[in-house]
Amino acid sequence: MVDSLQYTPQITLEFPIGEKDFFMAGESASRVKKTLQQLGLKQDIIRRVAIIIYEAAMNVAIHASHGLLTVHIDPESISIQTDDKGVGIPDIELAMREGYSTAPYEAQEMGFGAGMGLPNMKQCSDELSLDTKVGKGTTLKAKVYFISKEHPG
Ligand SMILES: Nc1ncnc2c1ncn2[C@@H]1O[C@H](COP(=O)(O)OP(=O)(O)OP(=O)(O)O)[C@@H](O)[C@H]1O
Ligand SMILES: [Mg+2]
Repeated sequence: MVDSLQYTPQITLEFPIGEKDFFMAGESASRVKKTLQQLGLKQDIIRRVAIIIYEAAMNVAIHASHGLLTVHIDPESISIQTDDKGVGIPDIELAMREGYSTAPYEAQEMGFGAGMGLPNMKQCSDELSLDTKVGKGTTLKAKVYFISKEHPG
């Protein structure tokens, strides 16, 4: 197991997410998982990154119209970013609250809409930020460091 990737080239992976594309979240999470396993990263890091990717991509598919997921691996950290076009988030503090959800009935029927995605992403990240414009779209950025004070596991 390694704590940093000094000798590994930086890697950027991109996944376009279409409207109601409920398939890409699981697909991108498992593709990144495989890459991180090949790099020999710790299980806990891989688990946290996979959760963030899944929840972030699912939010684009459910709440936005379409977007792009970018995962960047550098020697110290993994950055996960989604950029979407969509309704945006009028109240970020409210959206971050456990149990808050505006998921449509169709998504609820599929088991989504517990309002736990963003709180889970926050818990799994070392850094998380949201930049949003109502009626235009949202950018979510999350970072997981290989050596973290908050997640020493
Ligand atoms: N990319 C996005 N665009 C627009 N709104 C969003 C986006 N991401 C999150 N939201 C808003 O924030 C709310 C909370 O998101 P969160 O991921 O915590 O819960 P959820 O997606 O509703 O349910 P769950 O993730 O538990 O299935 C959403 O219901 C939605 O209103
Ligand atoms: Mg969600």
